Amino acid sequence: MNTSDRKPLIAGNWKLNLSSKKACELARAIADGSAESQCDIALFPTYLAATAVAEELKGSHVRVGVQDVYDAEWGAYTGEISPAACLAEGIGWAIVGHSERRHIIGEQEELLVKKARAALEAGMTVIYCVGETETEREQGRTFEVLSCQVRDGVLKAAPDIPADIIVAYEPVWAIGTGKTATPEIAQQAHEHIRGLVSKHVSQQKAELLRILYGGSAKPANIAGLMEKKDIDGGLVGGASLDAESFLEIIRYSRSDL
Ligand code: PGA
Repeated sequence: MNTSDRKPLIAGNWKLNLSSKKACELARAIADGSAESQCDIALFPTYLAATAVAEELKGSHVRVGVQDVYDAEWGAYTGEISPAACLAEGIGWAIVGHSERRHIIGEQEELLVKKARAALEAGMTVIYCVGETETEREQGRTFEVLSCQVRDGVLKAAPDIPADIIVAYEPVWAIGTGKTATPEIAQQAHEHIRGLVSKHVSQQKAELLRILYGGSAKPANIAGLMEKKDIDGGLVGGASLDAESFLEIIRYSRSDL
């Protein structure tokens, strides 16, 4: 059972979905329905909708972030967006290294480190995603892959694991597929990640680090996942696009049980 002092965090990754108007309506419904929640809540709309959602949620308990960020402050980087620009819009959170960026766009760890470092240095909170593919799991390489991503990614970007770095374990084979990792499988991966931080940084920092699970998380499986001692929340895709299902996930997370 998870009895840690780590505050649960439920994050909604809206990916390439929702117009600005729809995103604001959904954000409002989520904020209104979660006022009593003991969890931290963060929403990640598209770049186009992020400013409007941040404005909609100004002063509320729900945080707003972007799904990616670049490592330059300003300049000639067509198509990119900077931490400084996000913060100027009241957007304080960023996801880095989501598997769709790693595997569809082809982003490599070195770039992810630069992005995460720039965002952290600017004062953003970063959710750094790691996770193995189906083939890597079948080859028995899950822990090896996670070790590389943590050592060469998370720990390079944030060597002393400040409070504003959060790790999301997202097994690629579970994302958007309906195949959730069982709580036991997820727990093994989370324990491995926490163990790496304990070994390379300190046990105290490892105990404070929040590690989210992502991959077909939904109302029906969130409670079982959140029971596990190293699972501190969820990064939710599909099920965050509907206010009721996302609110159910928030309600079922550990501290609201
Ligand atoms: P999913 O996506 O919940 O739709 O599987 C999770 C994610 O990609 O962050």
